[in-house]
Amino acid sequence: LENLSVVGLQWGDEGKGKIVDYLAEDYEAVVRFNGGSNAGHTVVVGGDKYVFHLLPSAALNSRKLMIAAGVAVDPQVLSEEVETIRRIGSNTVLVDRRATLVSPLEKMLDALLEDMRGGSALGTTKRGVGPAYAMRALRLAPRVSDLLSDDFDLSPLRNFYSILSDDLPDLGRWLDESRSVLGNLVGDVSQELEAINDAGGSVLFEGSQGALLDLLHGTYPFVTSSGTTSGYIPMSAGIPPGRVGRVLGVMKCYTTRVGSGPFPTELGEDKASEIREKGREFGATTGRPRRVGWLDLVSLSYAIRLNGVKELAVSKLDILTRIKEFRVCEAYSLDGEQTEDFSRCIGSLDRVSPIYSGGWNVEPEFRPGALSSSARKFVEFLEERLHTDITLVSYGEDRSMTYER
Ligand code: IMO
Ligand code: MG
Repeated sequence: LENLSVVGLQWGDEGKGKIVDYLAEDYEAVVRFNGGSNAGHTVVVGGDKYVFHLLPSAALNSRKLMIAAGVAVDPQVLSEEVETIRRIGSNTVLVDRRATLVSPLEKMLDALLEDMRGGSALGTTKRGVGPAYAMRALRLAPRVSDLLSDDFDLSPLRNFYSILSDDLPDLGRWLDESRSVLGNLVGDVSQELEAINDAGGSVLFEGSQGALLDLLHGTYPFVTSSGTTSGYIPMSAGIPPGRVGRVLGVMKCYTTRVGSGPFPTELGEDKASEIREKGREFGATTGRPRRVGWLDLVSLSYAIRLNGVKELAVSKLDILTRIKEFRVCEAYSLDGEQTEDFSRCIGSLDRVSPIYSGGWNVEPEFRPGALSSSARKFVEFLEERLHTDITLVSYGEDRSMTYER
């Protein structure tokens, strides 16, 4: 079995957690490769619901859970999640020693930066993830391994922050607690992954956020602070690019976005709130109501291309069955010209108008093993327009509510 990479194709919240949980069974290890506790991945099994912000969404599968070097690790969040999985599973957890730490100082800076931006705030999750990556680029951030070494000097980082505030929180307790959480979890993810593959096992890489939030290729500056596409995986995990394996893209059959930034297919509040209530579209990390819009095939095609997606999982089809005459954006109009080229429009998304095919209705019928004929027609339409096979269709939160095609 080849390695598998699962990535989000929209602005996050595509249902990656559920899909990873569903697929994890076949893989020896599941690896988070980007972001930090800004993510919120929901897994529901047998009526029990879990939200993971940092650990991979495979805690219920007893797989090895790994956090790669390219993740920003908040030890407090890690501690809570490790406690949760100790209660429900028997997983081992391994955090790469090169991963970047998020301290209370980065959370403070996240809030400060948002204030500084005023009317053009990004709407970050304020989990300190952006500042942590910034400190890493400045070579000020402590890594996981630094926490465990006796001679690591935090004063350059503190000195930096003292430019911003003369009332900095003391990091003594944070350091002690972080050491005790991370002490037995630290290792070399890159080496472990190579060992698993060499012994014939396979691994699953779990992305957080989505392609349109990618730091380089997303809707900058309204993006997150790490890579979110399959290209970031080998860098983060410390493996050669060929080991990324098959790339499975996850898309929701409508679109949501949390935080600020352009959103061509965004709906007015009446329709948005209908879908938001039915689809329970509230942030799993911050509880914020998500902005809601129709499915956008223009941005999806871009995300598929960026990631080298070979197959798709579509989520929340059950929600669309409850929406009469829903629409799908098949092209944009920019300055009076019709285009399907997202790259061309990415700097002008505020000015594009979506061109829809309309009036879709899908029967709310889900029987184990078979899609209703109207659902099948819709899925086949998506496959044709996106030139990509849809191999999984999710029609409910629970692991069991999944079709394999
Ligand atoms: P999952 O993995 C949806 C968004 C924030 C904000 C922007 C920058 O659950 O899909 P950040 O805190 O990362 O600096 O915020 O990115 N954002 C997400 N939106 N799902 C996520 O993760 C997100 N992680 C970050 O709302 O607009
Ligand atoms: Mg989420």
